[in-house]
Amino acid sequence: VEPLKVGICGLGTVAQGVLSVIQKNTALINRRAGRIIEISVVASRNPRPEVDLHGATFSNDIFEIPLRNELDVIVELIGGEDDASKVIKLALENGKHVVTANKAVMAIYGEKLLQAASASKLSLGFEGAIAGSVPIVMNLTEALIANEYELIAGIINGTSNYILTAMEKEQKTFQDALREAQDLGYAEADPKYDIEGVDAAHKLSILSALAFGTSLNFEKVHIEGISSITLNDIKYAELLGYSVKHLGITRRAENGVELRVHPCLVSSEHLMSRVEGSMNAVLVSGNAAGETLLAGPGAGALPTASAVVGDIMRAARSNFMPITVGESGPHILPIADAINPHYLRIPSLDRTGVFAKVATILSDYNISIDAAIQNEQIAVDEGDEGWVPIVILTHAVSESIMVEALEKVQKLPDIVGSITRIRVEHLGTDSK
Ligand code: HSE
Repeated sequence: VEPLKVGICGLGTVAQGVLSVIQKNTALINRRAGRIIEISVVASRNPRPEVDLHGATFSNDIFEIPLRNELDVIVELIGGEDDASKVIKLALENGKHVVTANKAVMAIYGEKLLQAASASKLSLGFEGAIAGSVPIVMNLTEALIANEYELIAGIINGTSNYILTAMEKEQKTFQDALREAQDLGYAEADPKYDIEGVDAAHKLSILSALAFGTSLNFEKVHIEGISSITLNDIKYAELLGYSVKHLGITRRAENGVELRVHPCLVSSEHLMSRVEGSMNAVLVSGNAAGETLLAGPGAGALPTASAVVGDIMRAARSNFMPITVGESGPHILPIADAINPHYLRIPSLDRTGVFAKVATILSDYNISIDAAIQNEQIAVDEGDEGWVPIVILTHAVSESIMVEALEKVQKLPDIVGSITRIRVEHLGTDSK
């Protein structure tokens, strides 16, 4: 059998990881793929002479690679959206299998690209785009394919989880934790994508398309990041028996599919609350399998490269399943329809009767209180200037009602700052 000739576009963190995995595991990769996997050429606009290309040639023209006759597979690892999607499109038009770790491109242009791939009987592998080494695409499209999916919920941004864990376990500041995540190679080139939830939303829209056939419409994801979460929220959540996690959630409901990315309180009894650092975890609930939790390293050079090289090897064996998404997919529900219990932190004047006023408004809206704390000892830099945070956990209520009630609470003269609201997410069989 002829060697499988591969061209890599990009020479950043993940591309270097791919080179080193192939180098490290050459013999077993070739044996398991059933043919020699040869990295023929690496292209990048930023030459990095310090990187050992292990015999591959170098080109500084990324658009020339997909046109080369001798190549079988093009691996797109340049990141960004426009040029990356152009490289992938060119590769498919020229009859090449494609492997990418680019979630933004898949979330925005994935539908057309997958159609083009399947029309030409080519594989378009993107396992590395979601949750690093965790084989979630493979599971949704192959191992669990007999299920009607009910819920996909997961920690799908390693950087955000790293930051939340460092705040919770080591009392680090947000900024210090973010810098560490960047140094470790977890963050996106623009870390706003991580901390504002955009990266997780890219990944979630792909998962939702695979599980529910929703059209790949990243625009419809409700997105909130972690930048408003304080150490105090994390401490109050802990007191109430929860961890603060940033989740992507897509769920099949009666009239459509929920699609949302935001911080959540997750029961400390659920395994999801123990997923720490840059680890990712995705819970898949299916009507035959029940709940499957897949967890593993969600970011970084080698874990992502593990998924990318796996996709290259699958292209070598040509035993991939064509993936089609988005044909007449179900309606995506607006966030106003979501129903959740809520955690509220309400900065208020330290005087009698404030709690009663807040409770009255909530009760006017039929929002019932599950638990409440008003304990100055817990708060860091709070409660020292005549005000205290009132922390309330409510029972489940629809988002639109909660928003209306909080507008009223916010207007009380005793409330001295913005109210923080975090949804509580009960995942499957947690006992709360
Ligand atoms: N910046 C991403 C993360 C990389 O932190 O999860 C992996 O997709």
